[in-house]
Amino acid sequence: MHPNIKKVLVSEEAIQTRCAELGKQITEDYRNLGKVPVVVSVLKGSVPFLVNLIKYIDLDIEFDFMAVSSYEGTESIGDVKIIMDLNRSIKGDHILMVEDIVDTGRTLKEVTKLMFNKGAESVKIVSLLDKPSRRVIDITADYVGFTIPNEFVVGFGLDFDEKYRNLPYVGVLKDECYQ
Ligand code: IMP
Repeated sequence: MHPNIKKVLVSEEAIQTRCAELGKQITEDYRNLGKVPVVVSVLKGSVPFLVNLIKYIDLDIEFDFMAVSSYEGTESIGDVKIIMDLNRSIKGDHILMVEDIVDTGRTLKEVTKLMFNKGAESVKIVSLLDKPSRRVIDITADYVGFTIPNEFVVGFGLDFDEKYRNLPYVGVLKDECYQ
């Protein structure tokens, strides 16, 4: 375990198992709808989750990326900025947004709105983590990996000042790391 980690909240094994379950569910749901989603990954935090999840989606998906910013350090700055936009038209497409975590819900609300403004036919959300106790916007992900308590977490894509994204598990930093 990384020396700055106080505890592991979600293990590497649990994440892999859950990705397989979510991928299977997503495959079944879109197959039943007779649709193939365009998978949109919100950079940078969702990349490890995207990489693992898509292995288990048995559909001819395409994917694209966009980047937004809503956080500095551990505090939300409330204002969601589009830093990098999609590279393609999504008019009439069925969008599956991949997120690392739903916290206040501001990012997903804005990004979902943007997808519809661009002409998306439907928008669904899959998030590795959900922190419902922090929600200020009424939004729920369609697929959630793990619901976690109100703690700031790092690893598997999630960062503290751009570090710890490469940890293969989700954990909580030691208190002294914030000083
Ligand atoms: P929201 O707009 O408040 O829902 O925040 C979404 C974004 O904030 C996520 O995509 C993360 O990048 C970041 N974030 C929220 N909670 C955490 C956390 O516990 N650790 C690291 N990043 C977080």
